[in-house]
Amino acid sequence: MTLLVGTSTKMNLTSTEVAEWCRRVRAGTALLDGVRLFFLPAFAAIWAARDALDGSKIAWGAQDVHPAENGAHTGDISAVMLADLGCLFVEIGHSERRRDHGETDDAIAAKVAAVLRCGMQPILCVGEPTPGPISEAVTFVTGQVRAGLAAVRPRDLTRVVVAYEPVWAIGAGARSAAPEYIRGVHLGLRQELVALGAPGSAVSIIYGGSVDAASAGPILEQGGVDGLFVGRAALDPDQFVEIATMASRIAGRAVGPGRTG
Ligand code: PGA
Repeated sequence: MTLLVGTSTKMNLTSTEVAEWCRRVRAGTALLDGVRLFFLPAFAAIWAARDALDGSKIAWGAQDVHPAENGAHTGDISAVMLADLGCLFVEIGHSERRRDHGETDDAIAAKVAAVLRCGMQPILCVGEPTPGPISEAVTFVTGQVRAGLAAVRPRDLTRVVVAYEPVWAIGAGARSAAPEYIRGVHLGLRQELVALGAPGSAVSIIYGGSVDAASAGPILEQGGVDGLFVGRAALDPDQFVEIATMASRIAGRAVGPGRTG
């Protein structure tokens, strides 16, 4: 079994700081088995991640992308440009982008398609705005998944990662969702992905939202959680290493095929 563990720095860390973060995490995770790691810095620091992580087991990527390959889109970055920087993963549809940039389901679907066309793996973020019954969360996030993957052929679904990130569990002052709650929503997401044509466990479904070294273990112990998407806790490289190490231990205990796509 392989668990997928990564982080987005959001709008934090300069390229100089990213180089140092990568140096420390590379050293701290070099001997870990059973985990696939990814790191998504701000656009301005992707080159620094590439230089620092090249040849390591840590993949790098971006936090957003424009759906077009090139053209008159001032300030935007295309999937072609990201692939050229060696990116393997691109995060799409994070709730902060849906909120701050008015990203619609159609725009998100177009971005997912652009990332797949360029041979990278989209990390499609979904999450309900407020806490409630699991069934309501499942209805909300499966709708987001259907919309976000509308342009994806069934055979490409295996390259998609779904990040379940309840909006109410993200950011300073929030707490991660309860492990049983996460398990229930992941089960609903899995059923939806199978209905869309993804073979059983082919799509990795990872959890994000106030993950830290204390919450990571109990969340990963849940069946159906294929990894973690860490936010602010991972700005501290030591804490990211700690979480990755815990994931490696849990993966080593679990029996079953990898689900990292
Ligand atoms: P957080 O961010 O861990 O800081 O809550 C999670 C995310 O937005 O992916």
